[in-house]
Amino acid sequence: MASVGVEQPLVGGRSTSGVVRVGHTVRRPMGPWSPTVHALLRHLADAGFNESPRVIGIDEVGREVLTFMEGEVAADPTWRPGTPAYWPEWLRGVDTVTAHGSLVRRLHEAAASFATDDDGWREHQGRQGRDELVGHGDLGPWNVAYRDGLPTGIIDWDHIEPITPVVDFGLAAWNFVPLGDDRFPDVPQRLRRFCDAYGLSDANTVLVAVHHGRLKRAEHLRFWHRRPARSVGGLSNISASLQWLDSHWDTLAASLTSSTSASPAMAGDTPLAGLLRAGVARWA
Ligand SMILES: Nc1ncnc2c1ncn2[C@@H]1O[C@H](COP(=O)(O)OP(=O)(O)O)[C@@H](O)[C@H]1O
Ligand SMILES: [Mg+2]
Repeated sequence: MASVGVEQPLVGGRSTSGVVRVGHTVRRPMGPWSPTVHALLRHLADAGFNESPRVIGIDEVGREVLTFMEGEVAADPTWRPGTPAYWPEWLRGVDTVTAHGSLVRRLHEAAASFATDDDGWREHQGRQGRDELVGHGDLGPWNVAYRDGLPTGIIDWDHIEPITPVVDFGLAAWNFVPLGDDRFPDVPQRLRRFCDAYGLSDANTVLVAVHHGRLKRAEHLRFWHRRPARSVGGLSNISASLQWLDSHWDTLAASLTSSTSASPAMAGDTPLAGLLRAGVARWA
């Protein structure tokens, strides 16, 4: 059991209070999903994925003890839903976009061999399906630590959920390119970089994945709000993002490829390639 030392509050998160740093560790409150989170994090460590925290244990007051990921997390404590995400200047370069695409591909490669019968998710009901991996559930710069504009670690794993990797890729593209954000003049080129780094660049697959990723966000709303009025804001944000996607569809498609042979992530007999192909086949 890990013991408690000097605690330094960590602010900047979007939903969890009581996150503290103690030396080289982070202490976070646990929930019914935490045993599954820890199983996934142990699997990722065994698979050689270095950008996830290591599980050290549970401390004497029942908090999870994870390794502190060095770097600067791109989180803004004043952010509110419906407002643009925090993108400091040091995060805006194209090398960061490429690194994001490669990070998500490597995460998916490592997660694709993890299977669980657990069903204690935070924002999901049901067990992992045959075509699904367990995804992070809240991938975006606000949950990534960076050094020199390059990702060093992914934090905040409480929202893990079963999902087809192609839809998780679409969700990640939205947040990591980012899409739907007119502060960036070169969005189509940035999307292409993200996709090439992941290894999935054909327009049809990518844009349907992004579309379905947006719809997946709508499914999460029922876990946030008991009163319908509270969901209206979430749905109108998702609706605005779908409108943005529709009006930019042709421009985005023109920056991508028109053939699946340019999709190395879907080729071969790796677990991830099989899951990606199965996910795309669901749309046929
Ligand atoms: N493993 C970690 N390594 C480094 N910093 C962390 C880690 N976990 C959390 N933090 C810090 O704590 C803040 C809040 O944690 P997070 O898990 O993202 O909470 P929330 O669920 O509220 O978003 C983050 O913005 C980050 O600065
Ligand atoms: Mg967070």
